[in-house]
Amino acid sequence: MKKLFTLPQLAVCAILVFTGFSAQAADVKGSADGGKGKVWLCIGCHSIPDYRTDYPIVYKVPMLGGQNGAYIATALAAYKKGERKHPTMRAIATSLSDQDMADIGEYYAAQTASSPNNSLK
Ligand code: HEC
Repeated sequence: MKKLFTLPQLAVCAILVFTGFSAQAADVKGSADGGKGKVWLCIGCHSIPDYRTDYPIVYKVPMLGGQNGAYIATALAAYKKGERKHPTMRAIATSLSDQDMADIGEYYAAQTASSPNNSLK
């Protein structure tokens, strides 16, 4: 089996992740109101129950409503940095600032999983 990372590479990753995320947590505070206008791009995929993308792999689109805000912001940052590999999410996250990610996280956190499909009210 092919090794994905060498140990030194993993150490560098860990340092980047820790320094990056602590800086983000200290500087950026999200607001659900701020996120309202930023999720129009997400609704098409994340609001359709059981929607699956079929390229490049069949993926189930995760539910975001009711998810922890910091988890969402951290996941988006990981796509942006390339630590998470899903190509569409990477492309989308690349266009978001730290403030956008924090706002979007709070927006979805303020919803419940049963909100009408996480859509805009
Ligand atoms: C083209 C469809 C599509 C669009 C548009 C889209 N997503 Fe996603 N999203 C996905 C898929 C598919 C996954 C699962 C990818 C994976 O397995 O890494 C995902 C994963 C995520 C995750 C990780 C969830 C978890 O449980 O780990 C977050 C957070 C997320 N998306 C947020 C967003 C936000 C915020 C937007 C809008 C700015 C958005 N997505 C737009 C398809 C989409």
